[in-house]
Amino acid sequence: MNELIWLNGDVMPLADAHVGVEDRGFQFADGVYEVIRLYDGRPFTLREHLERLERSAAGIRMKLALDRAGLTGEILRFIPRTSVRDGMIYLQSTRGCSARNHLFPKDCPPTLLFYARHLAPVDAPGEAEGVKLHTEPDERWKRWWVKATALLANVLAKNEAVAAGADEAVFLEGGVVTECSASNLFIVRGSKVITHPVGPKVLPGITRLVLFQIAAELGVEMIERPVRFDEAMSADGVFITSTTREIGWVKSWDGRTVGDGTCGAMTLRLHKALRERVLRDTDALVGAA
Ligand code: PDD
Repeated sequence: MNELIWLNGDVMPLADAHVGVEDRGFQFADGVYEVIRLYDGRPFTLREHLERLERSAAGIRMKLALDRAGLTGEILRFIPRTSVRDGMIYLQSTRGCSARNHLFPKDCPPTLLFYARHLAPVDAPGEAEGVKLHTEPDERWKRWWVKATALLANVLAKNEAVAAGADEAVFLEGGVVTECSASNLFIVRGSKVITHPVGPKVLPGITRLVLFQIAAELGVEMIERPVRFDEAMSADGVFITSTTREIGWVKSWDGRTVGDGTCGAMTLRLHKALRERVLRDTDALVGAA
C-alpha cells in the first residue's frame, strides 16, 4: 500500500521519509504523540486530541511547529490525499534534531509528522471477543497526563501480558489498579461506573472524556476514585477504552472470569451510545465542510 506522510510541511511516501539520527525523539524519546481515529475519512474528536497534544507539549516545555488551527488545516487537507478511510492518524512531535546533549537545544526547529494508517473497523457493540487482562507492576514515570513517546514500560508490560496468553496489561501499584498499557480501565458496580482519576498515573484518554459526556447524557453515575485490585476483580463488569478499540469488554483477568463472563448491559449501553456519538460528530463534520 502506498502510504503517505506529512513531515515538517512536506507530503511524501511514508517509505521515503527520514528523520535524523540525532533527532531527540530517537535518542531521548523527547517527544509527544497522538492517535486520532478516522471513520469514513473523517477524524473523530480532532479538537480534543489537539488540545491534549498542546497540554502534553507544554508539559515537557516543548514548542509545536504549528498552532492548533494550522495543524487542523494541514490534517484536514492531508486526509483526502491518502487512501485511508477507516483507520487512524498517528501524529508525533519531537524537540527536533540537534547534537546529542541532555540540555534542551537552543533555536532548534521541532520535528512534526503525521500519517494515516488503515485499521479494521471495530466490531459492533457486544459482538467483539472479550478482552483478557493480565496484571503487571506499574514501573512507569509519574507524568502520565503527558502523552509522551517514552513507552518502554508500556511496551514491556504489553508483551508480558501477551506472553501470558492475555491481550492487555493492567498496571498495579500499591494495591490499586490504574490503567492499561494502551487503554483506560473502568469497573462496573451495579448502576455505577468507576475509574481512576487522571494525572500522574492515568492518561486523560479522549475516549474516556467522551464517555463521561455520554454517561452524563444517559444519567449513568461515573465515579473517579482509586480502585483496589480486589474490588476490581469482584466487579460486575470491567471494560477498557481507547481511540483504536473504542470500548472493549473484559472477559477474564489473570485467568479468572470477570462478572458473568459476558459483555454486560452497562458496557453494551455505553458502547452503543459511543457509536451514536461517532456517527453524529463525523456527520456534523461533513455538514461543516
Ligand atoms: N493509546 N492510556 C494509555 C496508556 C494509552 O496509551 C491510551 C491510548 C489510552 C486511551 O486514550 P485515548 O482514548 O485518548 O486513545 C489510555 C493509544 C491509542 C496508543 O498509544 O496507540
